[in-house]
Amino acid sequence: MDYTEKVIDHFKNPRNVGELKDANAIGRVGSPSCGDKMEMYLKIEDGIIKDAKFMTFGCAAAISSSSVATELLKGMTIEEAKKLTNQQVVEKLGGLPEAKIHCSVMVEEAVKAALEDYYKRK
Ligand code: FES
Repeated sequence: MDYTEKVIDHFKNPRNVGELKDANAIGRVGSPSCGDKMEMYLKIEDGIIKDAKFMTFGCAAAISSSSVATELLKGMTIEEAKKLTNQQVVEKLGGLPEAKIHCSVMVEEAVKAALEDYYKRK
């Protein structure tokens, strides 16, 4: 399977890239298998994710997965975000090649790490 048009679009024009200055939840993860890294920034207010941004130093699949994840996350409750799976990300991208599934798993881990960080700060 090749990259879908959606993947290519989000890779070329990633949404919500950069550091979120007033984030109150930050998740930093890396993939041991490829060495890529990802940072997920969330701004949570009254249990709702008001804003989400990311910085990913990685492959096209990792960048497009992070990009769609930030779109999915905005407006979610913490409970919904906790349940965000890499499968949802892959679906939103219209699929990923088998060898690139781990890139979407990294996004799920980054979101979970950010939510852990949120609770630690409280
Ligand atoms: Fe490492 Fe995609 S190859 S995240």
